[in-house]
Amino acid sequence: MPQAVNIEDFRRMAKRRLPKVIYDYIEGGSYDEVTLRANRADLDAIRLKQRVLVDVSKRSLATTVLGEKFSMPLILGPVGSLGAFARRGEVVAARVAERVGVNFCLSTGSICSIEEVRASREKPFWFQLYINRDRPHADTLIDRAAAAACPVLMVTIDSQIFAKREQSIRNGFTVPLRTTPASVLDMMRRFDWLRDVALGPRLAYGNFPGGRRNFNPVLRMAVGGGQDDTLCWRDIDHLRSRWKDRLVIKGIMAPEDALLAIEHGADGIVVSNHGGRQFDSASSTIAVLPRITDAVNGRIAVLFDSGVRRGQDVIKALALGADACLLGRAYAYALGGAGEAGVEQAIRIIEGEMYSALGFLGLQSVREIDRGVIEPSA
Ligand SMILES: Cc1cc2nc3c(=O)[nH]c(=O)nc-3n(C[C@H](O)[C@H](O)[C@H](O)COP(=O)(O)O)c2cc1C
Repeated sequence: MPQAVNIEDFRRMAKRRLPKVIYDYIEGGSYDEVTLRANRADLDAIRLKQRVLVDVSKRSLATTVLGEKFSMPLILGPVGSLGAFARRGEVVAARVAERVGVNFCLSTGSICSIEEVRASREKPFWFQLYINRDRPHADTLIDRAAAAACPVLMVTIDSQIFAKREQSIRNGFTVPLRTTPASVLDMMRRFDWLRDVALGPRLAYGNFPGGRRNFNPVLRMAVGGGQDDTLCWRDIDHLRSRWKDRLVIKGIMAPEDALLAIEHGADGIVVSNHGGRQFDSASSTIAVLPRITDAVNGRIAVLFDSGVRRGQDVIKALALGADACLLGRAYAYALGGAGEAGVEQAIRIIEGEMYSALGFLGLQSVREIDRGVIEPSA
């Protein structure tokens, strides 16, 4: 495997190895990508307070997230179509997560089914639910996740409104899918990907019936067109009554909605703008995080994502009150660029960065991190 020392290296590797249409789907944000850039810029703008001459030789990143013990405050977040980036990509990511002592959240729009991923590991994983117009299908998914003993159901509520990802439209990654001679030629040139994915088992969305014909409904969900904009808190109440275990709502960006999530029985929320892929003009997640954690005041778990590429980013989110961070593109690039070894290395890189940062802060445990580690802005 070519040398990668950071997540950016994996991004470049993914760009080389994957067909352009797939790479652009991973990398892109919506519209002008203002929010996508703000996620990174606002994380970068935070400065941490360095402390010295503290014995930090017994540092630990171990923590507990929604009652589960984790070796570090990370979760591999829900990313659709992982199996199109590398062969059986969801199984690969789920296995790596188990090996390194974190957990993996399987997307509704996965190639590998809930049952295939369950069979590939000892411990159950988390499941992410999209609720679209086909409500009976959503109920079936909830029941399948329960049968697989998933401890956490994460319902994503920021995607029921269409957001234009302009590069995907140019690439023909739309419903119906448009292939051009140029895009086919581009795929034919990606030999590693062809051997690994295209010559592997047929790609179909494992959680939907209909084999290969099921490509369109899921794609529609991913790139817009089939979302259900009637979705509202009543649907969360329905979910709450059907799902007995922990329920997490992903896509919260306002303190008011965080309070409603508590009222409607959520056990946790994910402060997320979908990695800048939905509402372009929304704030960065790190900018809204402190207001949300203040409102929640420790009553439920607060997870964080969008823009996390470094261990230092995780530390900043924890300092502002998050319990753990979800990785999105960070591990999707690694999977697409370097497969299973890549995903493990990407996690180890971020782990190493967190471990160093903790030492520079003069702390022994991630549980000691609080707002005091953040330098007041000038
Ligand atoms: C290629 C791709 C596919 C995604 N698919 C899903 C999905 O199926 N369900 C979901 O809740 N979020 C999905 N997300 C959003 C991620 O869970 C996460 O919120 C986002 O990637 C975080 O931003 P980051 O990639 O900048 O870290 C997807 C993100 C990407 C990049």
